[in-house]
Amino acid sequence: MSFRLQPAPVARPNRCQLFGPASRPAIFEKMAASAADVVNLDLEDSVAPDDKAEARKNAIQAIGDIDWGTKTLSVRINGLDTPYWYRDVVDLLEQGSDRLDQIMIPKVGCAEDLYAVDALVTAVERATGRTKPLGFEVIIESAAGISHVEAIAAGSPRLRAMSLGAADFAASMGMQTTGIGGTQENYYMHHAGQKYWADPWHWAQAAIVAACRTHGVLPVDGPYGDFSDDDGFRAQALRSATLGMVGKWAIHPKQVALANEVFTPTEAAVTEAREILAAMDEAKRSGQGATVYKGRLVDIASIKQAEVIVKQAEMIAG
Ligand code: COA
Ligand code: MG
Repeated sequence: MSFRLQPAPVARPNRCQLFGPASRPAIFEKMAASAADVVNLDLEDSVAPDDKAEARKNAIQAIGDIDWGTKTLSVRINGLDTPYWYRDVVDLLEQGSDRLDQIMIPKVGCAEDLYAVDALVTAVERATGRTKPLGFEVIIESAAGISHVEAIAAGSPRLRAMSLGAADFAASMGMQTTGIGGTQENYYMHHAGQKYWADPWHWAQAAIVAACRTHGVLPVDGPYGDFSDDDGFRAQALRSATLGMVGKWAIHPKQVALANEVFTPTEAAVTEAREILAAMDEAKRSGQGATVYKGRLVDIASIKQAEVIVKQAEMIAG
């Protein structure tokens, strides 16, 4: 990144974020016992308007009462276009324990959204004497959000992660689909009598990854709605991982293992990456910047590519 180093994102696993409505406290213990790296208690769109206050109370109680182990604990607050969000923030910080690691801000449309929430959070933190600074994560899920994605990624020193929210994104963009992520029937190339399906989410994902990597934020793929379709989830997750995303949401517990599998580098990938590093060590010793590994070129850039995989594997193992 020009003469500056690209900032590193927070070094913690984020392979799977398991969501559950905070209006359904019976599943909180199950979320805590799951293999997800991140748990998101939802106050937003999985909670009906009449249940908002109760859900907020449930979340506040669960933050302190439940043993979340080493998980990153996050609460998704309501959007800035609702009458709920300020009380979500104030009550969580005034009444909840500091086990809460971060809040997720949905439907972010510009960097000033983060500034506004940061101002409120900072004031309540000072007033209550909280010493653990609250982190932020955001969802890009609107035309405005994707248009301003780079400014949003730079929008707050509290920002840790950014997800693509496929359903709201599709609605905001006027996309002709009701699918939440994955292959869309009408999005295909046609050649020689055959259909070849392409990926309508690809450009938004790539924009998010670029914005996140520029500013040291974790890029995350959002929900895959059809939780009966394991192959579809896996295919979507593999594309996201290939593009540089570090994890994916689970909107049903059965998706947790799928996400963990895809976003943990395989032993074969780690072995190959280590072999490339060894081959380049050897090349350097003999004064070369490039060499041949399994019949293909590897050079100094290959070291950085291999290190991405090795470091990710070591971070997850550690
Ligand atoms: N986290 C942990 N456990 C969950 C869970 C979740 N999100 N959703 C369901 N479970 C549990 C159920 O309690 C049930 O447990 P049991 O075997 O002990 O009885 C088991 O997993 C199987 O659940 P199932 O019957 O298949 O699902 P359901 O009909 O109870 O719930 C959903 C399905 C989709 C409504 C539910 O998973 C859900 O609310 N998901 C999250 C939605 C959300 O948060 N959306 C916002 C982000 S997009
Ligand atoms: Mg949404």
